[in-house]
Amino acid sequence: MSKVPVGILGATGTVGQKFILLLADHPWFEITELAASERSAGKVYEEIVSWKQSVAIPEKVRRMVVKPCEPNLDCKVAFSGLDASVAGEIEKAFAEKGYWVFSNARNYRMEPDVPLVIAEINGSHLDILPFQRKQRGWPGAIITNANCSAIVLALSLGPLHKAFGLSLVNVVTFQAISGAGYPGVPSLDILGNVVPFIGGEEPKIESETQKILGKFSGDAIQHADFVVSAQANRVPVEEGHLECVSVKLRTQASIEDLLGCWRHFQGETEGLDLPSSPENPVVVFTEKDRPQPRLDVWKYKGMSSIVGRVRQCPVLDYKYVVLGHNTVRGAAGASVQNAELVLKKGLI
Ligand SMILES: NC(=O)c1ccc[n+]([C@@H]2O[C@H](COP(=O)([O-])OP(=O)(O)OC[C@H]3O[C@@H](n4cnc5c(N)ncnc54)[C@H](OP(=O)(O)O)[C@@H]3O)[C@@H](O)[C@H]2O)c1
Repeated sequence: MSKVPVGILGATGTVGQKFILLLADHPWFEITELAASERSAGKVYEEIVSWKQSVAIPEKVRRMVVKPCEPNLDCKVAFSGLDASVAGEIEKAFAEKGYWVFSNARNYRMEPDVPLVIAEINGSHLDILPFQRKQRGWPGAIITNANCSAIVLALSLGPLHKAFGLSLVNVVTFQAISGAGYPGVPSLDILGNVVPFIGGEEPKIESETQKILGKFSGDAIQHADFVVSAQANRVPVEEGHLECVSVKLRTQASIEDLLGCWRHFQGETEGLDLPSSPENPVVVFTEKDRPQPRLDVWKYKGMSSIVGRVRQCPVLDYKYVVLGHNTVRGAAGASVQNAELVLKKGLI
């Protein structure tokens, strides 16, 4: 199989850099284009990017010239790590010109005909794409990823919802500074501190989780009807969002039932051999003080939600902690996996 040519929109940003790392040696995709703002366009990638990864810029993209985000790029798939202030117009222009856009921005996530996908949980929502393309007259399409905290949370909730039904979810997040992009949160605000506010984050976690765990019925996605309450905090951690979750279930289950449900979960990607799929989408830790972002965020290639401290909750039924990599599972890695699923389904 010849590799599918792909471009990265917002290639200089925090998510764009992760796209580059994940796609540089991808077995199905070949990076052919890098694009960013007018500030970067026309310049050699390594000379303009503020590279923040612990490994070097991959050789094959180092000297590539960054292009403007205009829909005349030599690629079929456009992975977008664009800022939300510009993603709406740019992603639409690409879909109108026939590109398959995999977006990390919030702009289209809650549109009724746009799938908001975690491959293992609701890959079947991609089946709305023919309806989207027909209704909008797009030869291309837009497929979105959820907010980084919502992905980590929904991946852990999905197996529970399927097995036992959820009625109430309460989540308190401890979110890494890389989640704010670059340069992100000023150091004087975050060093030795916790900021108990992230603009717009809580409603996104609440509504996107309901959409992801909703049901697809031909031409619409019916949102799940459980209630979600989210409180979001920014903490001085470089990578990895940690979340404290309490759930009320619709049917009775023991702690062993929950653990077994997570451990055996494969979801909608089972047997598909997608290159980015982790062996276990949800991993359960039994140590009393894990998972922790610094120690655990890179385990399982950053693509699993790591659950720990599962115990009874005196207010709801059960509570647990979940950790996920915000720029991998919560952004670029999830997009790449979605594109693999679209390709595997023969949609592109
Ligand atoms: N960071 C995370 O953990 C995370 C997780 C999930 C989703 N997201 C979402 O992913 C998107 C990117 O986030 P990020 O953290 O990577 O942000 P970032 O580091 O600020 O990067 C933003 C990117 O957008 C480009 N850009 C800005 N203005 C532009 C314009 N007018 N035209 C074309 N390109 C423009 C920038 O290019 P220049 O360098 O040329 O300015 C840069 O490549 C956002 O929508 C964010 O909400 C982020």
